[in-house]
Amino acid sequence: MSASLNNARAPSVPKAPAEDTPRFRPMAEGDLDAVMAIESVVYTHPWTRGNFVDSLAAQSQCYVLEWHGVIVGYAVLTTGADEAHLLNISVAAAWQRRGLGRELLDHVIVLARTLKVQKIFLEVRTSNSAARALYAQSRFREIGVRRGYYPAPTAREDAIVLECVLGYAA
Ligand SMILES: CC(C)(COP(=O)(O)OP(=O)(O)OC[C@H]1O[C@@H](n2cnc3c(N)ncnc32)[C@H](O)[C@@H]1OP(=O)(O)O)[C@@H](O)C(=O)NCCC(=O)NCCS
Repeated sequence: MSASLNNARAPSVPKAPAEDTPRFRPMAEGDLDAVMAIESVVYTHPWTRGNFVDSLAAQSQCYVLEWHGVIVGYAVLTTGADEAHLLNISVAAAWQRRGLGRELLDHVIVLARTLKVQKIFLEVRTSNSAARALYAQSRFREIGVRRGYYPAPTAREDAIVLECVLGYAA
């Protein structure tokens, strides 16, 4: 038996257990306790449980990122015609700064491409430097400002409007 044939039959390198890779899967109503536990910590003005229930009922694109059986993040996207609006993207406080936000956003972009979306829009607080840095790395660009869009402890806060143009082969 030649060496090359021998190599061809060699067992492939075992794959890492599936759990080693965060799983992007549709959100279900049964995930909402875990989602709300994250949401209520990472935002000063969190969504209510009803906001998520409504998003699920409206058949928005609601997904979670699950790792080692734990929900570590989630995203909510609405789509209409060939545009999408990213309404929520969050990573649990304890899991931040490990690349999961970028991974979640990459999944959202792949999902949007699958849905033939041409542009993703979103709003972000001017003070949210972490999210703004993440979006800048993912080719979102600033296209406007919504004055006083967000509630804030003292005065209202402006939103930066961002757009990501997705090129895909027709
Ligand atoms: C924004 C958020 C989703 C980022 O998630 P994350 O898992 O911490 O992000 P990642 O580890 O994937 O980091 C990706 C990039 O984001 C930026 N970033 C993330 N956290 C940051 C921080 N605290 N300060 C500055 N930049 C930050 C960096 O550019 C980083 O790239 P780098 O690691 O090469 O420096 C997370 O901070 C979060 O859930 N925040 C609360 C909810 C929120 O504000 N969502 C956005 C609403 S518009």
